[in-house]
Amino acid sequence: MTVALLRNDAVMSRRTALNRFAALAALGAGVFAAPRIAAAQQADHRSRIEALIGQMTIEEKAGQLNLMGDPFRFRPQNVNPLDGQGDPARITQMIRDGRIGALFNGVGADAGRRIQRIAMEESRLKIPMLFAADIIHGLSTVFPVPLAEASAFDPELARRTARAAALEGAVSGIHQNYAPMVDVARDQRWGRVVEGAGEDIYLNELLAAARVRGIQGDRGLADRDALLATPKHFVAYSAAQGGMDYNTTDMSEATLRGTFLPPFWAAIQAGALSVMSAFNDLNGVPTSGNHRMLTEVLRDQWSFRGFVVSDYTSEKELIAHGFAEDGRDAARIALMAGVDMSMQSGLFMDHIPDLVAKGDVPVSRVDEAVRRVLETKAALGLFDDPYRGMDPVRERAIVGSREHYDLAREAGRKSIVLLKNEGGLLPLKAEGQKIALIGPFGADVDNVFGPWTIWGDESKRVSLEAGFRAALRDPAALTVVQGSDVETAVAGGIEAAVEAAREADVIVLAIGESAKMSGEAQSRTEIVIPAPQRALAEAVAATGKPVVVLIRNGRALELSGGVKDAPAIVVTWFLGSEMGHSVADILFGAHSPSGRLPVSFPHRSGQQPFSYDHKITGRPANPTLATEEYTARYRETTNTALYPFGHGLTYGATTYAAPVVSAPTLAWDGEIEASVAITNSGPVAVVETVQLYIHDRVASLTQPGQRLRDFRKVELNPGETKTVTFRLKRSMLEFYDGDGRLTVQPGAFDLWLTPSAQTGQSVRFNLTR
Ligand code: NOJ
Repeated sequence: MTVALLRNDAVMSRRTALNRFAALAALGAGVFAAPRIAAAQQADHRSRIEALIGQMTIEEKAGQLNLMGDPFRFRPQNVNPLDGQGDPARITQMIRDGRIGALFNGVGADAGRRIQRIAMEESRLKIPMLFAADIIHGLSTVFPVPLAEASAFDPELARRTARAAALEGAVSGIHQNYAPMVDVARDQRWGRVVEGAGEDIYLNELLAAARVRGIQGDRGLADRDALLATPKHFVAYSAAQGGMDYNTTDMSEATLRGTFLPPFWAAIQAGALSVMSAFNDLNGVPTSGNHRMLTEVLRDQWSFRGFVVSDYTSEKELIAHGFAEDGRDAARIALMAGVDMSMQSGLFMDHIPDLVAKGDVPVSRVDEAVRRVLETKAALGLFDDPYRGMDPVRERAIVGSREHYDLAREAGRKSIVLLKNEGGLLPLKAEGQKIALIGPFGADVDNVFGPWTIWGDESKRVSLEAGFRAALRDPAALTVVQGSDVETAVAGGIEAAVEAAREADVIVLAIGESAKMSGEAQSRTEIVIPAPQRALAEAVAATGKPVVVLIRNGRALELSGGVKDAPAIVVTWFLGSEMGHSVADILFGAHSPSGRLPVSFPHRSGQQPFSYDHKITGRPANPTLATEEYTARYRETTNTALYPFGHGLTYGATTYAAPVVSAPTLAWDGEIEASVAITNSGPVAVVETVQLYIHDRVASLTQPGQRLRDFRKVELNPGETKTVTFRLKRSMLEFYDGDGRLTVQPGAFDLWLTPSAQTGQSVRFNLTR
């Protein structure tokens, strides 16, 4: 299975990489078919591109490496800092003069055709423009934020939503998507946790590959519905110290290779033909000026064939980093490090001609970057049809189609995580129960999309209230009270909420973070629910009525007081256009929840950075005596999670037997099986996510207490028992050593087959050489 291969093969050497390509191709995995074009056509493009390069002036070459925000179709909610949107007349002239090769964050087939026509009819060399966009979790139809969707533990679902979003982009005249974000998020204070697949390496790898396949489609990049995927932000951007966005990162080779690089490798293996370099400095070298990462790792070791685009002005930021003297120096460093296309700073356009003239950059390096950009344009089919995909009629039919909204609802439902359900409070009854929906997110529509939506159709946002009313047999049984704003109290809000609570049979408390509290530049010092909402929760809990807490969030949060103690807690994230319907589907029992946490909810905010796969230390915490001094713990809490990675309940009641292995010894080139029997003793059918964790007991480098190495989703009817079997082999036990080399060492391993990290019994086996 592709999935299994990807998991195990985050290998860095070119030889191994090539072997993997061959192995996957032999298996018919098909993942490399996407960027391939017929050999004859490719040769034709090559000679055409070489001929073009031969004709280009140095200014025109620099132009192909120059990418700017689209000033024609600018939207105020465009998310980048410094306005820098340029003015249409200036950009039009630049297109005519061949001084710009790509635009980003403007969509629309009609306008796209008009802009492309300028390049094709009014510029000297008639090189098609490349149009890119940040289609992070949907264009017009908004799907769950990527972190939410990671909760589904379902790569196929991620592929489908990425495909639907890419399709909406492609018919709107887009060629390249600045997605997926594959940064492994170990610190929940970091605002961009919401854009990725959470804290686990393996889940990040699987979803990186799935999203790339969804974005690029399976009919080749030249297909009019394919977009070029751009895994970002290369690399270790999420390791920002203190969780503060843009902050410096500093780490060992083992951590870089073992934690932050694997999802990029998985994305490239899946066929991604562009990569975005990041803002952060890594061990003292800014990543957008980092020759080692952009050239030695990406090109020499991984044989990456596409182009590298810098993140927004990140090469200019080499000056602020104190790594370049001025714009000219920054352009030189970034280009020589391996950045091929500069986003928004204009530095490549401004300085490449002079850098080449003075001999500070060899023209061969400029040609190489131009070649990569043009070859990618050719792979996208733009030389054959510069207007590919831009079809206003298809655009109207496909963008926001019923099918896409149905998928958004399904994805939303599968992304919901039930943390707690005491006394079977959920599901709620669709009739005969008076419900008070309290909190800032009850009637709200501004926070259903979540961050990173520029083109979402705001007229189609389904609030919780609307979703509930549609699901209830007697919509009059619902009272909706705001109670509090997200970060500030509302006069009389608590009083009104308490009154409504007293009148109700059950309270649904919709609280958490606004969309603006996560995303780029939205790091937080404390990952808590804002104080006014906590006060609201206390007041409502004091009525003694049963409370179901619905958490709106873009990261893991510390839960406390009335929120933590509520009998039922549901993590609802930002689910996109269909949010209210998706939540109602779960809350009123039309579907049993199946989502699992892709990030650990800690006991306390101050535990960050935290991930379930942390090291054990020389003074392991005593699990039965959490207060024991001189162990790895805090004064206030054990260093475990309140709700660990992988946790999520259903409306069934599953029990796991102890795991068993088919043999106590795994031979070096052999395989054994690990199995577990699972029973659903509850009243409804459920989907259970069985997770396989391992721990290497003794190694030349200390190892995490647990690492996820596989998982499987199984359906269980009421009363049903199923035995789930996994195959175990050596490659699942590999890790990166202190020199960043992939290794595996014989000895004893613990294995768990459990419903989450941090739970269940383990079984031991030995790997022998
Ligand atoms: C900055 C963000 O870091 C990046 O993720 C995004 O793709 C670019 N801006 C372009 O909008």
